[in-house]
Amino acid sequence: MKGLKHLKSWKYKKLLKNNNYSFKRNYILKYLPSALITNAYKSISSWKNYRATPILSLNKLKNDLKLNNIFYKDESKRFHLKSFKALGGAYAVERISKGKKNIVISSATAGNHGRSVAWGAKRLNLKCKIFVSQYVSQTRVSEIEKFGAEVIRVKGNYENSLEECKRQSKKNNWQIVQDVSTKNYRYIPQLTMAGYSIIIKEISKQTNHYITHIFVQAGVGGLAAGVVAGVAKYFKRVPKIIVVEPERADCVLQSVKANKLKKIKIKKESIMGGMSCNEMSLVPWQILKKASNYCVSVADDNVAKTTAMLKDKKFSRSSIIGGECATPGIIALIGLANNLKARKSLNLDKDSNILIIGCEGNADIKLYKQLLFMGRK
Ligand SMILES: Cc1ncc(COP(=O)(O)O)c(C=O)c1O
Repeated sequence: MKGLKHLKSWKYKKLLKNNNYSFKRNYILKYLPSALITNAYKSISSWKNYRATPILSLNKLKNDLKLNNIFYKDESKRFHLKSFKALGGAYAVERISKGKKNIVISSATAGNHGRSVAWGAKRLNLKCKIFVSQYVSQTRVSEIEKFGAEVIRVKGNYENSLEECKRQSKKNNWQIVQDVSTKNYRYIPQLTMAGYSIIIKEISKQTNHYITHIFVQAGVGGLAAGVVAGVAKYFKRVPKIIVVEPERADCVLQSVKANKLKKIKIKKESIMGGMSCNEMSLVPWQILKKASNYCVSVADDNVAKTTAMLKDKKFSRSSIIGGECATPGIIALIGLANNLKARKSLNLDKDSNILIIGCEGNADIKLYKQLLFMGRK
């Protein structure tokens, strides 16, 4: 693999411009209140071993794509949990437990959120029950168990695991900590999103460049909404917000297109497992329906290759550990930069300072090794 010439063939799948775009700070901070964001940073930055995650430069890629800067926020270094999720669940556990020692925390998860909740419970010496579906890998289960949580496997998919979590939690008076908000369940997911917003607080201190574009991944939209709220609170200039999803799970794109919440059918799960979601969380929907400029989807084809290229210093001077969900922003950016019309429409040019959220490292070590192997072939 010499140079980056072969990137010229990379494509995105779908691109949608949001016709209802209107970035209003007050509106966004109504759905994710400013005080929650301030408190999240105050608390999390005081935790033992807290350090801002690095902001790296994909300097080789930016030269190839003729852009001014491509910043990569490396969440693989987040509290040894290897994902931005460390900021959300664990923080929500701290806030809702309010110093009580006798409560039991519960959650349903596809992996990383449960790990964060389990870690948060362990930090405070609380008992923790984590529900997972039959599809969650044993590697991810072991990672949760490392933090002393009891993992309960439930037959069926994520929704079945959530139902069982709710049933047992009601019966036993356990305190549920979910990251997905619904009509009657907002506060705890808002806490998780407030936790994610500190990514932007850190960036506002890490670079003097004005960011012009943010590529942010979405599953149910929690990360993207946290990032947008962070921008509303901390950035002077508002960058273009580009929400990236797997083509097989493009619930944000479909909802923005229809201008209403859409539940989609996932025919085949994406390899980007954490983003394989069929319906948005409610608060993120309220935020992203206005604040996202574009939604873009990408195929799974180049995920393994991107993982390997990050590791093998093809994009940057240093080696980067980026798991499957850390790749779609890069894939989308390359695809868009390759397409003259899209490039122009998004103003991707020599003055662009792009921010990519490298949201996870090798959180699933077994899958990561397989991706590296496939990507180097
Ligand atoms: C591991 C992982 N899980 C989940 C998500 C999606 O986050 P959310 O469901 O909050 O949109 C991401 C990133 O998009 C991720 O990296």
